[in-house]
Amino acid sequence: MKSKYTEKQIENALALYKETGNFTFVSKETGIPRSTIRDWCRLKDIHVEKKIPDSELARKRVKLQDENARLIRENRSLLRQLNEKAFLDDFINDSFAKKPPAKTFKFKHEGGISAPEIPVLFHSDTQYGEVINLEDMDGLNSFDANICEKRMQRMFQKSIEFTTEHWAGPKPDTFFYLRGGDHISGGIHDELAETDEKTSIESILEMAAIEKRGIDLIQQETGCKVIVYSVAGNHGRTTRRPRTKRYSALNYDYLLAKMLENQFIGNKNVIFHTPQSGDAYFNIFDFWFLLTHGDRIGARGGMGFLGPAAPIIRGMKKVIEEFSSQHRYVYKVLLGHFHTALDLEYGLANGCVPGPSEYSRSIMRAKPHPPSQWYFKVHPRHGITTTSKLYLGSPEEGRLYE
Ligand SMILES: [Fe+2]
Repeated sequence: MKSKYTEKQIENALALYKETGNFTFVSKETGIPRSTIRDWCRLKDIHVEKKIPDSELARKRVKLQDENARLIRENRSLLRQLNEKAFLDDFINDSFAKKPPAKTFKFKHEGGISAPEIPVLFHSDTQYGEVINLEDMDGLNSFDANICEKRMQRMFQKSIEFTTEHWAGPKPDTFFYLRGGDHISGGIHDELAETDEKTSIESILEMAAIEKRGIDLIQQETGCKVIVYSVAGNHGRTTRRPRTKRYSALNYDYLLAKMLENQFIGNKNVIFHTPQSGDAYFNIFDFWFLLTHGDRIGARGGMGFLGPAAPIIRGMKKVIEEFSSQHRYVYKVLLGHFHTALDLEYGLANGCVPGPSEYSRSIMRAKPHPPSQWYFKVHPRHGITTTSKLYLGSPEEGRLYE
């Protein structure tokens, strides 16, 4: 049977086989089936050891070179990654190693303060003798002479606790007891005159006894020398209308202060100052205070939602400017009268002892605040450091204290 391949094709295929000994390679190169080439070799008795042709070797070399190049690239990439990681690790380790230690507060007991702070009890607006009816107040608050005495006792008690068991630092040797006026109700309006439980004379007699007991207790429990400054308020006036002339001489508050002073005659540890002007200008360390009742500060009334805060600030500022014009520096103004406890830039406005009344409810519609008095500490270098409201009410006196 005649072959479909030419003699030349057969000759080339056999020559290629002799050169390589590889049927598969020859088949791929010539396109002749592998079995056909093998048959030709068997017929012609051709046996050749299998060899790899140069062209195949060249292709394999190129392939290996390519593979080598790829591996080199991959290796470089991996090395780069390793280097970057090592750099990052080093950087992080170095950063933590070189990071400065975190700042911390360390407690250092300074001690050695040259002088202890001075405690101050600021008492005003007692309005002893006034009656606030619990039913008329819808159960909110009540007040009478008996309740007033109990609130006064709580005031002294709390101020002593702050000065003894709750005191930090060197123990004080001086206690300031400031009396800011309006210590009796005084029946200054028809309503008060008709409803006051005590007359003005009864009120000052009983208040003098109550405050005597309070000062005695301060002395006894704190061991401090007590310095008392007193000014009069508008409720103590003996005239129908407020007067500017003989302000103190016509005022029961002034009389009460003098009666209190008389009870300590001979006691060198209780010192009284009762300026007739109604303005007590005094210093604690280098800090100058002005104690005045608050009815003579050139401002009164309220102002919208600010209420009494606006006239209090305005009045304090006017007082400070007036004193400044006389070359008298005022560190803080201390006033009462407004029955509103405020700790302000210019001073302290005091709360009161009676608390919300029929007047504050019906006329002022003021937000009811529990009665309070200021207690504060004066530091030799820093001035007022601590202000504390002494709350005086008790649950049996109304639901304001529940
Ligand atoms: Fe007043």
